[in-house]
Amino acid sequence: MHKVVLHSSHMTLRKKLNLFVFLFLFALIFSCGSSEETSTPESVNTEVPSETSTNQIPENTHDETPPESQQTEVISFGERILPIIESSCARCHIGDAPGTTHAFLGTASDVSANAFAVAAVVEAEIMPPWPASNLSVPFEHDWSLSQEDRDAVIQWTRSGGSIDIDPSTKITASEEAHHLVDYDQEIFPIGNYDGEKGQTDEYRCFIYDPQLTERKYLIGYEFIPDQTEVVHHLVGYRVPKELREAANLKNFSDGQGGWSCFGGTGLGGNQIGTLNQMITLWGPGTGAVEYHHGHGLEMNPGDFFVMQIHYHFDVEAPADNSSFRAKWSADESITPVELIQYFAPAEIPCSTSETGPLCDRDASLIDRLASYDGQGVQADMILDLCGYSPEDFSHMTDGYASSTCDQPARFSGTIVSVLGHQHGIGTTFRMTLNPDTPKERILLDIPKWDFEWQFNYDPIEEISIKPSDIIRLECTWDRSLRPPDIEPRYVLWADGSDDEMCFGIIMGTRT
Ligand code: HEC
Repeated sequence: MHKVVLHSSHMTLRKKLNLFVFLFLFALIFSCGSSEETSTPESVNTEVPSETSTNQIPENTHDETPPESQQTEVISFGERILPIIESSCARCHIGDAPGTTHAFLGTASDVSANAFAVAAVVEAEIMPPWPASNLSVPFEHDWSLSQEDRDAVIQWTRSGGSIDIDPSTKITASEEAHHLVDYDQEIFPIGNYDGEKGQTDEYRCFIYDPQLTERKYLIGYEFIPDQTEVVHHLVGYRVPKELREAANLKNFSDGQGGWSCFGGTGLGGNQIGTLNQMITLWGPGTGAVEYHHGHGLEMNPGDFFVMQIHYHFDVEAPADNSSFRAKWSADESITPVELIQYFAPAEIPCSTSETGPLCDRDASLIDRLASYDGQGVQADMILDLCGYSPEDFSHMTDGYASSTCDQPARFSGTIVSVLGHQHGIGTTFRMTLNPDTPKERILLDIPKWDFEWQFNYDPIEEISIKPSDIIRLECTWDRSLRPPDIEPRYVLWADGSDDEMCFGIIMGTRT
C-alpha cells in the first residue's frame, strides 16, 4: 500500500482517494468474507434511531453489527470518533471551509455517510494534512492524528460506521482557522492568470507590491484565494527592490499576468543567504499568520512580494485575483523576524535501469543552465558549501538518493517557525539542531514528504539557538516518483519542477 502512494505523486488526491477507497473496500470485503451486508457502501451505515441518546454505551450497538465483526472492538462514535473529527478535520470540512466541496462533515450523519472515504484517507495518512511527525519538537495547532486515533477511525468504519448520538448533531471545530479581523492593506497581483480547464499543475509567480514609502514591519498577513476551486497552494517570497526590474521583465512575458516559475521566483539573486526568501506557505485551511506581539518582518521601500500560486485547472474558472492582506507597523521598536536558510545537496543520479544523454551530470547541468538563462541552478554552489563533490553521490544508482549537510546555525536568537522544502520526488526531510549531542532537537521531521502540503511550523517551546550550534539537514528522494513520460536525467538542485532541492528555513528573532 505504501508503495502505491509513492508511485502516485502525480495523481490527484481524488484519484489517490478512489484507489484507497477501492483498496479499503477490498480489505473490508476480504476481512468480512463474502458477507452481503458489507459488499456495498450503503448498507454499512446502520440506520440509527433518532431517539438514540448521546450517552448510549457501545454495547447497545453491538447487536446490530454483523457476526463477522464480533471479534472487533465496537467504537463509540460520540465518545471516540466525534472528538477526532472536531479536533482534526472540522476546521476544513464544515461550513464553507476549503475541504467541504470534497467531503462535507457538517453533522454526525454526514460523517457516517462518508465513513468509507474518511477511513480511507485516514488509513492512507492523506488526511488530516500534517506531514510533520511527532519526532519533531511539538508545534502549535498540531491537528495530526495519533496512531490510536487512526486505528479508532478505521475500526469504527470496519464495524459499521454507525453513530450512537443524534444524527443531526452539528460538528464544530475545536480550533477554527484563524482569520485577520482587521488589516491595513489588501494587495492584488499586477496582472491575472486565466488558465484552461484540463491544465494541471500550473505554477505561476505574481508581483504583489505593497508600495511602501518607508520601512515597515509586516506583523500579520493572510492570503485570500479568489478562485478557490483552482487555487491549490501558495509559496510567498519577500523580494528586495533590486529585483523589481527583473520581475517587471518577466511579468506578462507570455501574454498573461505573472510568469511560470517553480522552485523559486526565477528572478535570480541566488547568492547563498538571499536565495529564495521564502516567507510563507499557504494551503487550504491555513488561515492568517500573526507574529507574536512585537515581532515583524522588515520590508523597505521598493521591496515587494512574489506569490507563487499553484493552480490545478480541474474546472473552468475565471481569471484568478487572489489577494494578500497585510497588517503593518512602522514602530521601530519591533523585533524583526529573520530568515536563516540551511541547505543540503540534491544529487540524484539516474538509476542503472535508466539511460540517456542527460544521465551525465555535466550534460544535465548545462541543459538546466541553458533553460534558466544561467539563473536558478544552485547545484554546484551547494555542493561547495557542504564540502561534497558529485562523486560522493555517484554510487546512488538504485533509484534512491539521499544527502545530508551539517552547517553552523549562524544566528543567535529564538525560533519563531521552521519549514522544509523539496520538490516532487522528495520522500523524507529532517532538520536537526545539534545532532548527536545531548542537546539534540529534531526541529522538523517529515517522514513522507508531500509537496502539496507545506506549512510553516511554529514550535510551542522557546527554542534558542546560537551561532556555533549545528544544523543538520537530511533529505531523501525516490526517482520512481518522476512522471514516467519524461526523459531520464541526472536530477540536481535547481528551480524547475523536474529539479530538486533540500533546504530548511528557521525564522527567528535575534537576541
Ligand atoms: C487543513 C485542512 C484540512 C484538514 C485539517 C482536513 N482536510 Fe480533508 N481535505 C482538505 C482539502 C483541501 C481536500 C481536497 C483535496 C485537496 O485539496 O488536497 C480534502 C479532501 C478530503 C477528502 C477527499 C474527498 C474526495 O473525494 O477527494 C476526505 C474524505 C477528507 N478530506 C477527509 C478528512 C478527514 C477525515 C479529516 C480529519 C481526519 C480531514 N479531511 C482533515 C482539507 C483538510
